[in-house]
Amino acid sequence: MLYAGTVNSAETLFEKLKEKMKMSKGDFTTLGASAHSKEEREENDFYATDPKALEIFLDETGIELRNVWECACGEGHLAKVLDARGLLGRASDLIDRGYGVTESNFYYSSEIWEGDILTNPPYGDAMKFCQHALDCVDEGSKVVMLMRIQFLEGQRRKPFLLANPPKYVYVSSSRLLLAKNAYFVKYNTPSANCYAWYVWEKGFKGETTLRNET
Ligand SMILES: C[S@@+](CC[C@H](N)C(=O)[O-])C[C@H]1O[C@@H](n2cnc3c(N)ncnc32)[C@H](O)[C@@H]1O
Repeated sequence: MLYAGTVNSAETLFEKLKEKMKMSKGDFTTLGASAHSKEEREENDFYATDPKALEIFLDETGIELRNVWECACGEGHLAKVLDARGLLGRASDLIDRGYGVTESNFYYSSEIWEGDILTNPPYGDAMKFCQHALDCVDEGSKVVMLMRIQFLEGQRRKPFLLANPPKYVYVSSSRLLLAKNAYFVKYNTPSANCYAWYVWEKGFKGETTLRNET
C-alpha cells in the first residue's frame, strides 16, 4: 500500500483523483493502448475480470463480506473466487454465460438482499447499477463495485456520489486485465484503464477514504 488517507470531502476526493487520471492518459499514449470505442464494445458489456484482481483486493484490504450476490457474474470469474472463500450467496447474469442464474435482469429484482453485493458492472450505465445495488441491500450492508477511476468524475455522477459517498475507494496500482468476452489469451496486454474498487456501506455519510493497493 503506497498511502492511505482520509480526504475532507467528496469534492476534495475528485481533485485528488484528477492527478491520477492525468497519469492514466499519459500511460494510455505510451502503451499505445486504446479504450473501447462504442463500436468495439461487446453488446452486453461482457468484460471478464482477471480473478487475481479480487484475490488481491480481498487479501490486501481484509474487507469483511457476507452472503455476497454477484449480480452480473458473466462466466463467474469473480463469483468463483467468492465461492472458494465461502462468501458467495448468489450469482446471476442477464445472459446465459454458463454460470449462475441466467436471464436475470438485475434491474427487475425488487427484493432486499440480506448480504452484500459485489460485481464488475456493465459499463453502459454503471451508476444506475450502483444505485440499484444500494436500493437492494439493508443499512450497513456493502456494495462493492470494480469500475474505472473515471467513475469519480462527471456532472451526472456528482450528485450521486455526494449523496452516496463510498466508504473506501481502493485504487489498483497495477493495470488490471479485463478481457472482452473472456478472451484472456487474445487480450493479454495491460489495460489502458485504471480501475478501482468502490466500497459503499449503505447509510455511510462520512468522508471517503482513498487507498492504493497492488
Ligand atoms: C463487465 S462484465 C463483468 C462480468 C463479471 N462480473 C466479471 O467481472 O467477470 C458485465 C456483465 O453484466 C451483465 N449484464 C449486463 N446488463 C445486465 C443486467 N441488466 N442485469 C444483469 N446482468 C447484466 C453482462 O451480461 C456481463 O456478463
